[in-house]
Amino acid sequence: MVIHTSQTGRILQRMKAIRIHNYGDGEALVYEDAPLPEPGPEDVRVRVHAAGVNPVDWKIREGYLSAMLPYPMPLTLGWDVSGVVEQVGANVSGVSIGDAVYSRPDIARNGAYAQYVVVRASEVAPKPGSLSHNEAAAVPLAALTAWQGLFDHAKLGKGERVLVHAGAGGVGSFAIQFAKWAGAHVIATASAANESLVRELGADEFVDYRSQRFEDVLENVDVVLDTIGGETQERSFSLLGDGARLFSVVGTPDADKLAAAGASGGMFMVQPSRDELGRIASLIDEGTVRVLIDSVFPLSEARAAHAKSQTGRARGKIVLEVVAE
Ligand SMILES: NC(=O)c1ccc[n+]([C@@H]2O[C@H](COP(=O)([O-])OP(=O)(O)OC[C@H]3O[C@@H](n4cnc5c(N)ncnc54)[C@H](OP(=O)(O)O)[C@@H]3O)[C@@H](O)[C@H]2O)c1
Repeated sequence: MVIHTSQTGRILQRMKAIRIHNYGDGEALVYEDAPLPEPGPEDVRVRVHAAGVNPVDWKIREGYLSAMLPYPMPLTLGWDVSGVVEQVGANVSGVSIGDAVYSRPDIARNGAYAQYVVVRASEVAPKPGSLSHNEAAAVPLAALTAWQGLFDHAKLGKGERVLVHAGAGGVGSFAIQFAKWAGAHVIATASAANESLVRELGADEFVDYRSQRFEDVLENVDVVLDTIGGETQERSFSLLGDGARLFSVVGTPDADKLAAAGASGGMFMVQPSRDELGRIASLIDEGTVRVLIDSVFPLSEARAAHAKSQTGRARGKIVLEVVAE
């Protein structure tokens, strides 16, 4: 943070941030000075140590969600954070200055590609103690998505067969581990180079989606977690039997096709959850779940981080480091 004094003597507090002023390609990301965000009465201000990078960041950068979320510009991207609480709002209890926290903040607000971010106190949870900030910033959005898809929506049960598409990705790498922990039989798709990785994470069966059609080699799946959409989702319907569930994070499954199979499902958007972040932190700290880091970039190199994410080939998570570890 830099403190400037205006000609009138008023103190102007500034910070470094990655912002966009218009929707566009990677060039739209600008590393610049931005005003220090002020917490409201229910908020905390977090000194960002690291910010996770997710595909939604570049989708928003490109304007993909502009109809749903009409952001005022300039917009600070990034909805995954690990850091230290630096200021608390007047009505906040249970979170204190100096707490190390992690969060998936509200996507309708300015994000965490910055030295500071303001987050609702109800949306931060204690950071997993066993993780560095870089690792912790990789967790909230992807892990909450996997958790909510498997447990809140699909109600995955012990002994059920679950197909996790894109098991080597951010969401998939957590989904495999959560499903295994819950006692499910886990099947994951990835490319051949990632077979050993997804098996290490807990996959009981692996399908190389590039050399095999998963619907030709699998049957009787109780739950599909779809992170790919399109024809991958289409081809997943044939695996569903009576009582099966297909939940997607990228496209709404056809209700008639679900009904024809006797199945149910839908599309969902991940929601912030302090309670679920707490449960996920426990699984991480007891060694049940590990965090897979693909790469770490300095905040100023967000363009390179987005380019990496946009390849669709990340193994686990991409992180922007704001405070060097
Ligand atoms: N609705 C929501 O709330 C929500 C929340 C989170 C994420 N999402 C969306 O979910 C999608 C996945 O997110 P993510 O963070 O997991 O992405 P990611 O980490 O960028 O996914 C990369 C992984 O996808 C794998 N992959 C690519 N094409 C594949 C295919 N056809 N079949 C199987 N695996 C494939 C790659 O594996 P290989 O290199 O082995 O091919 C790579 O490991 C994104 O579109 C994201 O925007 C939505």
